Amino acid sequence: MRKWMQTWILPTLLYRLYFHCILLAGSVSFACNDMTPDQLTASVNCSSSPERHTRSYDYMEGGDVRIRKLFCRTQFYLKIDKKGKIKGTANPNCNYCILEIRTVAVGVVAIRGIESDYFLAMNKSGKLYGKKTCNEDCNFRELIEENNYNTYASAKWTHNGQQMFVALNQKGVTIRGKRTKKENKSSHFLPMAVS
Ligand SMILES: *[C@@H]1O[C@H](CO)[C@@H](O)[C@H](O)[C@H]1NC(C)=O
Ligand SMILES: *[C@@H]1O[C@H](CO)[C@@H](O)[C@H](O)[C@H]1NC(C)=O
Ligand SMILES: *[C@@H]1O[C@H](CO)[C@@H](O)[C@H](O)[C@H]1NC(C)=O
Repeated sequence: MRKWMQTWILPTLLYRLYFHCILLAGSVSFACNDMTPDQLTASVNCSSSPERHTRSYDYMEGGDVRIRKLFCRTQFYLKIDKKGKIKGTANPNCNYCILEIRTVAVGVVAIRGIESDYFLAMNKSGKLYGKKTCNEDCNFRELIEENNYNTYASAKWTHNGQQMFVALNQKGVTIRGKRTKKENKSSHFLPMAVS
């Protein structure tokens, strides 16, 4: 009897306990669903291991990755050149305009130039630049505006409580985040599928 207990019941109990722990761990991570976007952003670390991200956010967003060009309403494509400089170009066939837009949290994306392998980033001063390894400068809040254009606001930085947007002016030059407005067409981008 005792031997039977040791060989069967104990392992079964341990096994159950193990499963119980897994379930508990599962419900803890599901609790993330209740976090506000700000809390989520704070916990996001879009490092160079996409697998990890896809996996950890799978249950929330399907680990969504889109390949797009971002066409600004000022008629320029957002470009991340080979040195990581952010500009606009009128050339629709520009390779440096092909971007990977990855959902890293609810409503928050990281945007990487596929050809240059730089992430789009905005620093505290609202300056757009390219970053090789992604940190929170690379997190942007993607919002679909009424006119079907998207806006991309830094998920980390604001200026006097105002959001700072990715924007290209009438000459295709980036605008400092502090000078951008959600309503201005410089901040409006149409994500275009890459054929
Ligand atoms: C983010 O990832 C980097 C590199 O993998 C690591 O050094 C850093 O500690 C991480 N930060 C957080 C907040 O997890
Ligand atoms: C942001 O980038 C600009 C241009 O590179 C630089 O002059 C400025 O000091 C940076 N600001 C911060 C807070 O890093
Ligand atoms: C939009 O931004 C551009 C460039 O900064 C500026 O010249 C223009 O006056 C702004 N338009 C509006 C309606 O704010």
